[in-house]
Amino acid sequence: MFKIMRNKSKSRVSTYYSLLLLWVIGSLFWYHYYYYYNNHNNYQSIGSSKSPHSIYDIHDTEFQLARQSQAVDPFIESDFKNNSVYIRFRELYNASKEVDKHSSVYDNIFKNHAVESVLASLDFSQRCDLYFRNIFAKNHNWAFNPNANFDIDFGRKFDDFSSKNAAKLKVLFDEASNNNNGDGTIENYEEKFAEFKKQVYQELKEDEIEQKVVDELAVFRLYNKCYVTNNDPVQKKRTEAFIAEQRALINGDSDLKSRVRLFKATMPEKLVINGDTLPNLDNRIYPWLSFDLPLYERWTGEIYHHVPNMREILGDRLQPPVIIDQAKYESSQSTAFFKRFKSECNGKGIVMSFADKHVDYAANLIRLLRALKNSLPIQIVYFDNLNDDSKRKIVTAARENFSYLPQSFEKVSPYLPKDYLDSTPNGLPKQEIWFVNAATSIDKHYRGKFSGYANKLLATLFNSFNEFMLVDADTALLHSPESFFQLQGYKDTGTFFFKDRAVLQKRDPNESKLFKRVAQSSVDKIMFDVDLMTNHTFHGDFFQDLYHQMESGVVLFNRQQHFNSILMVVHLNFLSIIRAKSWGDKELYWLGLAFNGDENYHFNKHGAAAIGEVTLPSDRKRPDGTLHHSKELCSPHPGHISEEDNHTLLWINSGFRYCHQADKVDYEKESRKGHKLKFLDGTAAAFKEYYYNPLRIKNAIVPPRGEELTFMYNESDEPLLGWSLDHDYCERYMWCAYSSIGGLTDKNTAKENTVEGTLITYSEKERAFFDYYGDIWIGME
Ligand SMILES: *[C@@H]1O[C@H](CO)[C@@H](O)[C@H](O)[C@H]1NC(C)=O
Ligand SMILES: *[C@@H]1O[C@H](CO)[C@@H](O)[C@H](O)[C@H]1NC(C)=O
Ligand SMILES: *[C@@H]1O[C@H](CO)[C@@H](O)[C@H](O)[C@H]1NC(C)=O
Ligand SMILES: *[C@@H]1O[C@H](CO)[C@@H](O)[C@H](O)[C@H]1NC(C)=O
Ligand SMILES: *[C@@H]1O[C@H](CO)[C@@H](O)[C@H](O)[C@H]1NC(C)=O
Ligand SMILES: *[C@@H]1O[C@H](CO)[C@@H](O)[C@H](O)[C@H]1NC(C)=O
Ligand SMILES: *[C@@H]1O[C@H](CO)[C@@H](O)[C@H](O)[C@H]1NC(C)=O
Repeated sequence: MFKIMRNKSKSRVSTYYSLLLLWVIGSLFWYHYYYYYNNHNNYQSIGSSKSPHSIYDIHDTEFQLARQSQAVDPFIESDFKNNSVYIRFRELYNASKEVDKHSSVYDNIFKNHAVESVLASLDFSQRCDLYFRNIFAKNHNWAFNPNANFDIDFGRKFDDFSSKNAAKLKVLFDEASNNNNGDGTIENYEEKFAEFKKQVYQELKEDEIEQKVVDELAVFRLYNKCYVTNNDPVQKKRTEAFIAEQRALINGDSDLKSRVRLFKATMPEKLVINGDTLPNLDNRIYPWLSFDLPLYERWTGEIYHHVPNMREILGDRLQPPVIIDQAKYESSQSTAFFKRFKSECNGKGIVMSFADKHVDYAANLIRLLRALKNSLPIQIVYFDNLNDDSKRKIVTAARENFSYLPQSFEKVSPYLPKDYLDSTPNGLPKQEIWFVNAATSIDKHYRGKFSGYANKLLATLFNSFNEFMLVDADTALLHSPESFFQLQGYKDTGTFFFKDRAVLQKRDPNESKLFKRVAQSSVDKIMFDVDLMTNHTFHGDFFQDLYHQMESGVVLFNRQQHFNSILMVVHLNFLSIIRAKSWGDKELYWLGLAFNGDENYHFNKHGAAAIGEVTLPSDRKRPDGTLHHSKELCSPHPGHISEEDNHTLLWINSGFRYCHQADKVDYEKESRKGHKLKFLDGTAAAFKEYYYNPLRIKNAIVPPRGEELTFMYNESDEPLLGWSLDHDYCERYMWCAYSSIGGLTDKNTAKENTVEGTLITYSEKERAFFDYYGDIWIGME
């Protein structure tokens, strides 16, 4: 017995020693190969204070010659995209693009390093290091310029260009015009030549501008991936597998393996001195940040100069705990601002952003949230400009006793749990309000960049929640906020977006082409595992050249999953060429994700619906007196139908009054129009009352999507478009939706081209709830 045990422990000891030995050899090898070789050998040999050389010393000819005689890798191609290993990986990842513009930094990198050597030798962080060294090798003073102008200047710069290239342009023009004309003589020569010069200049400049956009998107995207979320466990696991797969593929193929040369840094790369890791580049990537956190003020008046821990402060066990992140343990100097911020964000909540003039809307929404029994904290993010009166209104709406409910409560109370209304005079649950001043986080010089809708972008960025629902002040929710976080699309992707009205308003197709060109390229994928845009994005309405894709009145995000994409959303706002084509903030959310190589976003399947009551068919007869096949619903409110049951109305926009412009309407004028709202008796007083009252919801129509129908037999008198804007009502803001479009196209053969949409009719019970919520929102007795 004793003997056996001794034998066992002996073999255990020897196993132990051999494992230890293996480990020591392994780590020595690793140290030599990855650390010593790649870092020490490559980047630290030049530029130490001991070096007697200077790149500027013209007398040190030996050194100058040595600089130029880099060991040349035979597998460096003049165009790195022609490298066979590159092509192999591009095919592996399906990373092809029609116009594959790439960051100019890659040209620098692959001018000096063969693709196979980079891919086989460098891990993710070493590739990051290489990329950023090359930025500074090219431009010592590189920094992002948020004020960069993307306009083409036809003033002095154009004049300089034309005079410098006068002779060349003339030759080009003569060639081009001779070909057209044949005989070499042209009418209005000077005029046409001037036009030609402008065109050449414009094309040249457009190309230059696009390259600049590509460069700026790339550096921002890579900085965040390299230095902000590089400790994110999901990203780490993914990039490690990505690098391992590349190495295995190269090393597993003796032909490819034989092409790999030792990676050697170039002189300019070595001259970027950073100690062991690249410096904190935050100031150069984020010149618009002050690097202070926003001020978080609780409704009590308590002010937090750090990110508040919701679970602790609220004593709410339902709030998710703070995620412990490595950034906390890294020294603050070497840690990027957003890396720290990411590790500190916590909890789940509602985020709003509005100016003083919209405070009444916000207060109504907060009362509605009480009726919906919301228990999530609410952060109101503002930009220096929310006054104390507004704060008082909000806190009053959130905290005053609220037990006198409108009469319409009687009809819904049988459906509500017994404890819906607390027996205490407190009534509906009080709301946990926070005011967040984001201005403190913005550098003084850039505060002008965040006026108007950009406040909403700041709210997206600087609220302190990990999971949040961004809600416009004039949004009216019809279900508890918590239920939105339970939508399958949100659970699957960590986002939930809603579509706008599917209005067939076309944009210039050049816009989506430009966006495709400046998007991430095959080399971003092969070097840094940045996914390219796919059909998921291209099949959206924007890339189908429609003006409107998203309705941003409700936006859900899981920040841990999409942290860098949210940064990209804000960054796009600085690129005027992109911002100008995105219609305020509303398209920037999904665009920010798509440009970040993050297509894990979800849109509710249905486009926005018209919400209210269907027009009485007898109030809109055909010219021949018969009734239409299509049903019509005209309303100033868009609403959003859940894709999960094709029925539930989740939320509406433009508040809960029938007409959100009720204060501005000329009632005499609108009441005399006569073609809509015929059930009102046509008096100004009746219109006024109707406009100020809550919207009464009986139906919803999601009109059919699809191309505009162009042909129809006119007598069928059916609509050709799903949506039409009626300028005569609600101060030019009433949209009519049709349950079907098209109809008879040929009377003799009875051919038709009808396309059906969705008409929803709500039950008595549902309507009772809509009425109750509407009354709460408006503050009816
Ligand atoms: C790259 O390959 C393509 C197709 O083989 C060729 O047309 C092109 O000239 C090559 N480019 C360079 C710079 O070698
Ligand atoms: C690339 O496309 C092929 C088919 O076109 C598909 O089978 C393959 O899974 C795709 N690979 C990746 C990485 O998406
Ligand atoms: C609100 O209700 C509480 C009891 O829950 C009561 O103590 C308080 O006086 C009420 N406030 C007002 C203003 O009625
Ligand atoms: C789109 O770009 C093309 C080529 O640059 C140009 O010819 C065309 O006029 C542009 N389209 C519009 C609508 O501006
Ligand atoms: C993307 O969509 C286009 C049609 O718009 C289709 O031709 C193409 O095959 C799709 N690509 C993939 C990878 O599904
Ligand atoms: C909703 O409608 C779609 C078709 O538009 C259908 O595929 C889906 O099954 C429907 N879902 C439910 C729950 O009825
Ligand atoms: C239908 O009406 C439109 C305009 O109202 C007219 O241009 C078109 O010619 C008509 N078509 C037929 C088949 O009558």
